[in-house]
Amino acid sequence: MRMGVDYYPEHWDRSMWEKDAKLMQDTGVSLIRVAEFAWSRLEPTEGCYDFTWLDDAIDTFAKHAIQVVIGTPTCTPPNWLVHEYPDVLPRDAQLHPHYPGVRGHRCYNSLSMRHYSTLIVEKLALHYAANPAVVGWQIDNEFGLHECNCDHCNSRFRDWLQNKYGSIEAVNSEWGTVVWSGEYSNWSQITTPLGGTKHKNPSYLLDYKRFETDSVVEFQQLQLNILKKHCPNHFVTHNIWSYPMSLDYYKLCENLDFVSLDYYPSTSPEKDVSSGYSGALTLDLTRGIKRQNFWIMETISGPPGCWMPMWRTPHPGFIRAFAWQCIARGADTLVHFRWRSAPSGAEQFWHGLIDHSNVPGRRFEEYRGLCQEVQKLAPLLERTKVQSEAVILHSHDQFNAFQMQPQVEGMDYFDNIKTIHRAFTKLGIMTDVLSENEDLSGYKLIVAPSLFLLDPELASRLEECVKNGATLVLMPRTGVKNQNNICWIRPLPGPLSDAAGVTVAEYDPIGRDVHTIRWQNKSYSCSQWCDILSPQSAEPVAWYEDDFFAGQTAATVHALGEGKVYYLGTIPEEAFYVDFFKEAAEESGLHLFPGLPEGVQISLRANESTRYLFLMNLTRKPQTVQLDGIYRSIFNDCDMDQVLTMEPYAIEIVELPQKNV
Ligand code: GAL
Ligand code: ZN
Repeated sequence: MRMGVDYYPEHWDRSMWEKDAKLMQDTGVSLIRVAEFAWSRLEPTEGCYDFTWLDDAIDTFAKHAIQVVIGTPTCTPPNWLVHEYPDVLPRDAQLHPHYPGVRGHRCYNSLSMRHYSTLIVEKLALHYAANPAVVGWQIDNEFGLHECNCDHCNSRFRDWLQNKYGSIEAVNSEWGTVVWSGEYSNWSQITTPLGGTKHKNPSYLLDYKRFETDSVVEFQQLQLNILKKHCPNHFVTHNIWSYPMSLDYYKLCENLDFVSLDYYPSTSPEKDVSSGYSGALTLDLTRGIKRQNFWIMETISGPPGCWMPMWRTPHPGFIRAFAWQCIARGADTLVHFRWRSAPSGAEQFWHGLIDHSNVPGRRFEEYRGLCQEVQKLAPLLERTKVQSEAVILHSHDQFNAFQMQPQVEGMDYFDNIKTIHRAFTKLGIMTDVLSENEDLSGYKLIVAPSLFLLDPELASRLEECVKNGATLVLMPRTGVKNQNNICWIRPLPGPLSDAAGVTVAEYDPIGRDVHTIRWQNKSYSCSQWCDILSPQSAEPVAWYEDDFFAGQTAATVHALGEGKVYYLGTIPEEAFYVDFFKEAAEESGLHLFPGLPEGVQISLRANESTRYLFLMNLTRKPQTVQLDGIYRSIFNDCDMDQVLTMEPYAIEIVELPQKNV
């Protein structure tokens, strides 16, 4: 567990390196990430590589016991490359090039891009393989999808389809192209989604998204192979931006050693409470991508700006508290973005730990304290893992399918997951967020938000978990389609109808209208969607109170094997989730931390013998937390009051014996 910073030696006069390195060492920084945008300095003209400046920088920092992660520079093709080989530039749906000027102006399928990327990564790998200060690599920077329509992408898309379907007839039938005379009689008729309308065949669009992810994965794999071949002792990672995102991070990270996340919680006072909750989801989701601890490769150090007018500066305590939130939810190393604000370029006002003044100030002092705390606690937290008993399923394909076919005004797949996750966080229930492709055995409670695309294989895996004792919670828009985005011709929830013991007789997409349901003699509001349920072997547990379906079933429960399946036919308000999941969690014997005030979160990291409970006030207000016993604060080495007052952004960590709660 260590602290690092993102550092750009090429942005500073060499005379500053030594001072920066010394200050880092004195502060407790032991790692820098460098070079991920420095292609024009590493290869100033075609074939002329110059790594001497980077060697000197690395030597300077190594003398101060600072190790180095090198970013491959392929996010920023230099002007000579773009000029000589214009096929590097992606083309939008109107076939206009995405010109250089910012970053990311590269088509992942471009042959020139692949060729020159491979060359520079190989040179770097060979050059730094034996440098003792270099510990690992970050490939590129924050991959995303371009929806490129260049010739390379078109021909590779056709190859991809041939590989997947084998014949043009299979494409026609799996996509249902018969509608609107969309049938193909020759491969050459298939193109990437060019301009015009976005209302194209959803099966085609979904495959195009999958193809795009595969293009990024392939582009990354070229680099990964080189790095693994020449630098077998180095780790390789990539820094993802947070979900929601149309690129499939699960696939992207499959072959990496670990996932790294760039985490920028909002500093806005209006988001005082909400940013901690959405951050908790982001962190849980990141941990779930490879089901292991992860790194933070960038995080907030000052007021963000440039991509938008500047946000508020991090309130005193904010930088420290959100750093601890990352650790609490599974981060093993934190790299802050960035050491010092850039003097030039488009990102001058995305502030670093040190301002342009070059005088370390309040934020820097807070960071210094954080480094010291992390150093002190690292030996305890090393090799601990987050412990969860509940899981929320998150699917990349579901997200894309909903993005291309919004079901109703106000229904957003990821926002709905946010609300569910927030309810769990408020209840103090540790929750994993996992892809539906994962093995889910062992979880007591599985929440499956809108399994829009549902094949019988996933349905039977979920059913198995229930039979073995899990409680499964299903939601509207489940079992609508198969994996090719074609509707099932059977009652909803399709392949899960039997397990749920219920079918949907009719639905009303109520959108932003607000209705109410009655559950356990209490009314709760709901919106977006109402499935009017027809229980088969399930029991009704909630009823609609409005409209022509007042009195009809809104939710059911169905006992199955050792477990049970709830079907919620609507999207309820958060208060319902809090009450409902509390009851479901208690029934399933999950651990809760009841009574947490708004914005106060807990987390648990554990090894075989000890669990560390984190209590975090991620708000600008003091808060009071009722503890169920006398606990000893690790920070202050003293017993804490049972009615604990937490100052704004206060963090407490306590040691619990394993199996105590
Ligand atoms: C990240 C990016 C960094 C920097 C930062 C602040 O998305 O990886 O290079 O731009 O945002 O905008
Ligand atoms: Zn392309």
